[in-house]
Amino acid sequence: MTFKNTLYAGAAFVGLVVTAVGPANAAGRLSVICSADNEWCEMMETAFELEHDIDVSMVRKSSGEAYAQVRAEASNPKLDIWWGGTGDPHLQAAAEGLTEEYTSPQLGDLQDWAVRQAKNADNKTVGIYAGALGIGYNNDLLAKKGLPAPKCWKDLADPAYKGEVQIANPSSSGTSYTTLATLVQLFGEEEAFDFLKEMHKNVNQYTKSGSAPIKAAAVGETTIGITFMHDMIAQIKQGADLTVVSPCEGTGYEVGSMSIIKGARNLENAKIWAEFALSAKTQSIAEDAHSYQVPSNKEARIPDGAPRLDELKLIDYDFAKYGDAEVRRHLLSRWDDEVKNAPQ
Ligand code: G6P
Repeated sequence: MTFKNTLYAGAAFVGLVVTAVGPANAAGRLSVICSADNEWCEMMETAFELEHDIDVSMVRKSSGEAYAQVRAEASNPKLDIWWGGTGDPHLQAAAEGLTEEYTSPQLGDLQDWAVRQAKNADNKTVGIYAGALGIGYNNDLLAKKGLPAPKCWKDLADPAYKGEVQIANPSSSGTSYTTLATLVQLFGEEEAFDFLKEMHKNVNQYTKSGSAPIKAAAVGETTIGITFMHDMIAQIKQGADLTVVSPCEGTGYEVGSMSIIKGARNLENAKIWAEFALSAKTQSIAEDAHSYQVPSNKEARIPDGAPRLDELKLIDYDFAKYGDAEVRRHLLSRWDDEVKNAPQ
């Protein structure tokens, strides 16, 4: 156990004590919806409560589901801050006036892609991390089944992979929506949907959460998983025998984002969280929660093994277009109509 792990294990204990004594002891409150991986969400909560006399209540939901909750509660918001998850639904929420404009004094310390995300949303969201999509497979299962190693997106339509591919549902998962938007940008909408209908024949499950497919591949429940590459690295670092593929046609990426909820009951505390979350110090502890995204603060430590965006064949992802409410709604309903229930 490293010193930091010890610190946060201790912090987790302190967190338990605080909860047991009751929120009445904390000076303030904050309601957070978290769309990053659970371990990171929990560590953020613990680290924040250690620094601030604010009691955090947190729920974890996938990006699309978190967006749906923010939208459903618009007339009576119960959440203060939405931390993490892919950028597209954050942009959609911003455009629909569901999030609060806030310009952090730390904006100048952030990577260009994080600042662009804020600009695209009139500062109603901001980038906190980035990561690229990939194809991951379980080496042992692939060899045992005598399957060819996938190298490209289009390979995943090969009938040889029947029942071997897992990906999340793009309505609930930002990871999967980013994949859908990436394919549309790579191939054009018609060809992308033709491909998705073919790949559908190989899909064994559309999961709710984006990282679930690679966790399933790690334990041998599926041979192939489509997720962000950093979620694959997280499994490999914890002992899984996986190969990470950067698809030959090129790949898309996310700008994981954070937004303050419009009408937040604890607005000042939400701003305190925002500053905490954008700081180099906080972003540098992500690795301790097995999170390997590239941090948005230029001074933050890049986790060892984080896939570097500048070393990948990335598409010029059009965040403004694919975060647009109409475009997102259209692609998701087309996926529901044409892919989800197509015969396998
Ligand atoms: C994982 C990734 C994050 C990503 C998130 C989206 O947790 O590590 O980088 O933002 O998935 O989750 P979702 O369930 O919406 O795909």
